[in-house]
This record gives sequence, C-alpha cells and structure tokens, in this order.
Amino acid sequence: MPQLPPAHELGFGKYFADQIFMARYTRQGGWVSEGVLPYQALKLDPAACVLHYGQALFEGLKAFRQKDGGFAIFRPEFNWKRMCDGADRLCMEAPPRELWMTGLVDLINRCVKWFPEERGTAIYIRPTLIGTEAFLGVRPSNEFLFFVILSPVGNYYSEDSGGVKIWVEKEYLRAAPGGLGATKAAANYAGSLKAAQRAKKKGYAQVLWLDHSRTAIEEVGTMNVFFRCKNEVVTPELDGSILEGGTRAAVIELLREAGHRVTERKLLIREVIEAQQKGELLEAFGTGTAAVITSIAELASDDFKIQLPRERKVTFQLFDQLSAIQRGEVRDSRGWMVRI
Ligand SMILES: Cc1ncc(COP(=O)(O)O)c(C=O)c1O
Repeated sequence: MPQLPPAHELGFGKYFADQIFMARYTRQGGWVSEGVLPYQALKLDPAACVLHYGQALFEGLKAFRQKDGGFAIFRPEFNWKRMCDGADRLCMEAPPRELWMTGLVDLINRCVKWFPEERGTAIYIRPTLIGTEAFLGVRPSNEFLFFVILSPVGNYYSEDSGGVKIWVEKEYLRAAPGGLGATKAAANYAGSLKAAQRAKKKGYAQVLWLDHSRTAIEEVGTMNVFFRCKNEVVTPELDGSILEGGTRAAVIELLREAGHRVTERKLLIREVIEAQQKGELLEAFGTGTAAVITSIAELASDDFKIQLPRERKVTFQLFDQLSAIQRGEVRDSRGWMVRI
C-alpha cells in the first residue's frame, strides 16, 4: 500500500501514483501506445518544440470510488473532445478516442490501491499532450507524446466551508478574442500566474478574469462562474475565450432539470455589483473538476468590495447532487459515469 496522508492533508496534486501511461505519435508511424509503465522522468531533447514554442495541452478529470466498491470516471468523453479541439487550435495531433480511453482505464486499473477512501477524495487524472520534435524554426511539431498521470486528491480549497474570496483582476487578461482561452493550453496557465500571485498576497484565493474590455466577467481561476439572482442563474456565455468546463455543462443540466432558469449571456461586473446593492444577488459559485462547486464569499478590486449572501442554498444542493452522482450513490440517468 502506498503511504498517503489522511484525506484532510492530501491537498491537490501533491502525491502521484507510481505508474504512467504513455503513447507517442510520429507522422510516419501514427500513434503507438507504450502502455502503462513505472512513473518516470521524461527524456526530452533540449530542442523539443514544447520547450520553446509551448505546444502543450493538458486535461483534468476525476475517477471516484463507487458506493458498491467499484471505480468510475466522470465524463471522460467530454475531456477527450476538449483535448481534440485544443489540439486543432494548437496544430497538434490529438490521441484517438480508443487510445485515450484505454490509457485512462488501464492506468487506473493498475493504480486502484492509490484511491483514497474518504468522502470528498478522488483520483485526479492529468492527461497531457506535448510536441516533442527537436527543431528551432517556428512551426508545428511532427512528433507528440501523450501521457497520463494520476494524483490522489482531497479538497482544492481548504477554506471551502466559508466560501472563497476572489479578486477581480483589472490589469492582466487571461485570454483575448481569437486567442487560446477556449483551450486547456499550458500557456494560458503560465499567463495567469502573475495575477493569481498578486491576489494571494492580498489575501484572495483566486482571480476573476474579465474580458478584453475589462467589463464582462469570464471565469474564476480554474473555475467557471455562476451567479444566482432572483429569477435566473447567470453564467458567462462561451465567447471563444472562456474554457468550457465539464462541471459547468453538468451544472447547467442539473439546474435546468431542477426548474431554474439558466441564462448563458454576457455578464458585466457592474451588473453583479448593482444586483448585490439592490439585494437581488442570492449566491455565487465556481465550478470545476478540482474545486467541484465552490461558494464565493467576497468579490473585490481596487474600487469595490462586496460580500455575498451567506445562504448558499443552491451551491450546497448542487455540490451534494453532483457528489452523489460521482460516487455512485444515486442512479446515473445521464450516462456521465464510465465504470472501470
Ligand atoms: C481556466 C479554467 N476554467 C474552467 C475550468 C473548469 O473546467 P472543468 O469543469 O472541466 O474542470 C478549469 C478547470 O479545468 C480551468 O482551468
């Protein structure tokens, strides 16, 4: 048995299972699986394209211990499609669906001993695609490495119970129209670090990203964002620079099934502040694989600070409902869980 700390100390992405799945692509040979191997350092040519021109994409999804003792992955097909779309945008070769599924399932099957037991824990799956060809002229790589690693995880935000404090970023942008915002390109995350670091220094857990005009809300850190007002739940529309989250899609479905009016539209930060001042803003939450559904307690920037109501009724309902589906505690009528 691997030595893992208790669930509350697991954190996110600090421990890794001792196996890795790898497959390589060349123009001549296509995709060739190397199967599940012992976790190891990668051997890369110093001229590898990923190190210079950043052809790197990753995904993030979770597998859960089921109530009946089995294991299941939450919506692996969604993440595969998102990687395919990202690969198209970055001129990369995405792994075919079968290779993706075999990689995930074989690796998890070999690593079941790494599944933590406690509620709120899971195995986080990190599939990654990088350009490995060695050259220095700027062009797409002709060789790619696809690998998958696993990390037993607990909660992403330790302050979850009270909700997170979010800094509204008005200087730096996460993405711009026509850019990479809709993809899970590694470059997006490199570009986000400075603002996140600054927000943390001020005591905020993450930043809320605005659009290029610094007026419309895009997303929060590594989460999509929802605001519940009197008659509707609003989330920013997918405008090409927001990452479409699998959790976002699932939450929209769950909310609509429960009778909520969910509107995907352009949402100005000014509207949210005004709704809060009029007492019309009921709750706000972020959605993401790592953070699941996370309540937002405060939004602030240089020129304003608003506290959000502490009711959080829908936030908690969604969290419970989604967790129950993911752990196999209720029937999965939507076919979201793929049994291993
Ligand atoms: C920038 C960004 N937005 C949104 C999300 C939420 O996506 P998902 O629900 O698929 O995890 C993530 C996390 O993957 C993210 O990194």
